Amino acid sequence: MRKQIAAANWKMNLTWAEGKKLLEDILAAGISLTENQLAVFGVPSPYLTLADAVVSGKKNYSIAAQNCYDKKSGAYTGEIAAGMLQSVGIKYCIIGHSERREYFNESNQMLAEKLNRCLESGITPIFCCGEALAIREAGTQNKFVETQLKESLFHLSAEQLKSIVIAYEPIWAIGTGKTASTEQAQEMHACVRSVLAAKYGAAVADEISILYGGSVKANNAKDLFSCPDVDGGLVGGASLVAADFITIIQSLK
Ligand code: 13P
Repeated sequence: MRKQIAAANWKMNLTWAEGKKLLEDILAAGISLTENQLAVFGVPSPYLTLADAVVSGKKNYSIAAQNCYDKKSGAYTGEIAAGMLQSVGIKYCIIGHSERREYFNESNQMLAEKLNRCLESGITPIFCCGEALAIREAGTQNKFVETQLKESLFHLSAEQLKSIVIAYEPIWAIGTGKTASTEQAQEMHACVRSVLAAKYGAAVADEISILYGGSVKANNAKDLFSCPDVDGGLVGGASLVAADFITIIQSLK
């Protein structure tokens, strides 16, 4: 059975004092996650090990990096290698967020390499895909997302694919308060799963967690997560408010 995941993406927000309090407030809710559920916090790089210490020992609570580089090591000032994340005990890394694609020109090909680096280091990538508004308005979103998946994932073996989490984040829904409807989310998630099934077979596709991201809030998480192919969410703004993210975790199937 595939994992149901509430993933926070703090982006470039919060001081460590604020972040620590947020984590502590969320943990204080004492939500016990089932074997099948996971809460992951994508924190800014300087907080990775500090945050990991706060959640350590809490079953199925984990910390994620928000990015890593596509090279193993070397003269890349300011960059962080997947192997470095592994060396300090980090187990997840968000890869290919639309903000990275847009502001840092990350291509599908580069992201394929980042996925390789994560998998070599035993890091579970949370691979983001999703279309801009113009593509949605043109009605070509399925083809667009299919190309993202093919160009970044299809070199992987079925075994490798099974260690990846996918997050569908329509860009028009990110930070806009304009959430995809449950119908739109389910349709795209089913499409993503069918693209994976065509290449890797239905049994493999069925094991992949596909998260929805884009204005997930405390008041819409339950509806979104109840869609059969939506396995939780990748949450920006609402993950910065303890009470909201607690509700979002509690909305997992
Ligand atoms: P919001 O939840 O703020 O729309 O952000 C979504 C997102 O980009 C998560 O990665």
